[in-house]
Amino acid sequence: MKHRIDKQSVETGLAPSHSLKRIANSERPTTIDQRPMIKSPRGTRDLLPPDTALWNFVEATVRDVFRAYNFHEIRTPIFESTELFARGVGEDTDIVSKEMFTWEDPPRLFEQYKKFYQDVTAAIIEGRLPAGGYRPLSDLAGSQSLTLRPENTAGIVRAYIEHKLWERGLNKFFSIGPMFRRERPQKGRYRQFYQIDAEVIGPAAAGSQSPARDAEILELVATLLDRVGITHWTLELNSVGCPADRVKFNEALQQALAPVVATMCADCQRRAVTNPLRVFDCKVPQDQPIIATLPTISQFLDEACRTHYEEVKQILNSVEIPYVENPRLVRGLDYYTRTAFEFTHGALGAQNAILGGGRYDGLSEALGGPPAPGIGFAIGEDRLVLTLSATASAESVVRQPDVYIAPLGAGMNREAARVARELRRHDLVVDLGDESFRLKKSFEAADKMGARYILIVGENEVAADAFALKHLASGEQLTIPRTELAQRILRK
Ligand code: HAM
Repeated sequence: MKHRIDKQSVETGLAPSHSLKRIANSERPTTIDQRPMIKSPRGTRDLLPPDTALWNFVEATVRDVFRAYNFHEIRTPIFESTELFARGVGEDTDIVSKEMFTWEDPPRLFEQYKKFYQDVTAAIIEGRLPAGGYRPLSDLAGSQSLTLRPENTAGIVRAYIEHKLWERGLNKFFSIGPMFRRERPQKGRYRQFYQIDAEVIGPAAAGSQSPARDAEILELVATLLDRVGITHWTLELNSVGCPADRVKFNEALQQALAPVVATMCADCQRRAVTNPLRVFDCKVPQDQPIIATLPTISQFLDEACRTHYEEVKQILNSVEIPYVENPRLVRGLDYYTRTAFEFTHGALGAQNAILGGGRYDGLSEALGGPPAPGIGFAIGEDRLVLTLSATASAESVVRQPDVYIAPLGAGMNREAARVARELRRHDLVVDLGDESFRLKKSFEAADKMGARYILIVGENEVAADAFALKHLASGEQLTIPRTELAQRILRK
């Protein structure tokens, strides 16, 4: 174990190996059973059965829905270069300025060691001093700053650019996976959380800029929530315009903020100078009355943005997706243009956004790619499951065992394993007891796991090649020949 920690730290550069040794040694126990327990890090959690059944149910359902809308899965790395998020999400956002898990990765550390060793060995053999100077090993020249992804839009757009995916026309992607933000944990807010992400991106000629794409994405979300079984959501909708609108809006905000900003929180004072739009992200209660008086972006939309927004709303009306316009919705990421939205749900409390998204027509260029308008959303899967668990229990979506096999007597484990293997070939859910169990214990185990049947495998049954099968709910017991067992159990 110790060896593994050291090797890992050298490879990742996350922490020097001696400091990890110190942590390990400081807690070195005198006897093994005194070792302190290791808990999961703050803001992370283990997802355990039966709750994982709800997660699987959600993921299987969303995969079905994505298939129906012709979306395809993309998997990108869990860590990316820090610059991707700085440029993509924006340096002034809370996510980038406060919440990222970032570290320096010194990829050449091993190389430096190796070269040093080779040079010194060569010098000794040749009887001279090593030539040149050596960088101290703490010097991270050549190191790269890496970050655990706080969101996945930037990563997907990076992949779009890296693999020249515009050659495929319009790309419709989805991804499911963990994200990381160093936030203050609370209900519905974690440091490792999961997002179900969807992105539509491609050249404008492929229709990526069309308001039809925005409306389709929003209709997809409504279908998805419906299929998962979440009702009573609210779609909050806004248009945050294009960069030219933003310049005018920021100027207006700066003017409106000038006389009052000194009374606002330190973050708002900074934002007022660097990126006034981000003042809308402020959660400080005392600042809210001031924020409520600030101008809204809708007053600054140019004709093209206004028309685009109107068309999105018209299509939503025609497919009967209800929405509420929220002119103060600007979203906490800098890449948004035009349509921005959130789906909220009352059951969630303070962290009430199940998902958020919008259009990001300039993101590809910001990341060094060609123009590639796009729109997408990310569902907070933790919050989706939390909302769902208010109405559906994990047990209700778990497939309980069809049959519990109880081997009775010495040597019966082998026979029971054979029967279990045959039944599982028929796609039955089968669980197995042990020949050391008494019959009573087997019945208790079958009951506890919610099995429909219990099947007794004893010497007499094996000899007759017919088995006692008991339906646990009704108590009905029959003797069924081995060849008919599967069909009998498959009958509900
Ligand atoms: P976001 O609003 O930052 O957008 O996150 C989307 C959703 O992720 C939130 O609505 C929330 O449900 C969930 N979420 C965020 N932070 C946490 C957390 N700490 N704990 C639990 N859940 C959380 C984005 O990430 C954009 N990339 C969405 C997007 C995709 N826009 C365009 N395409």
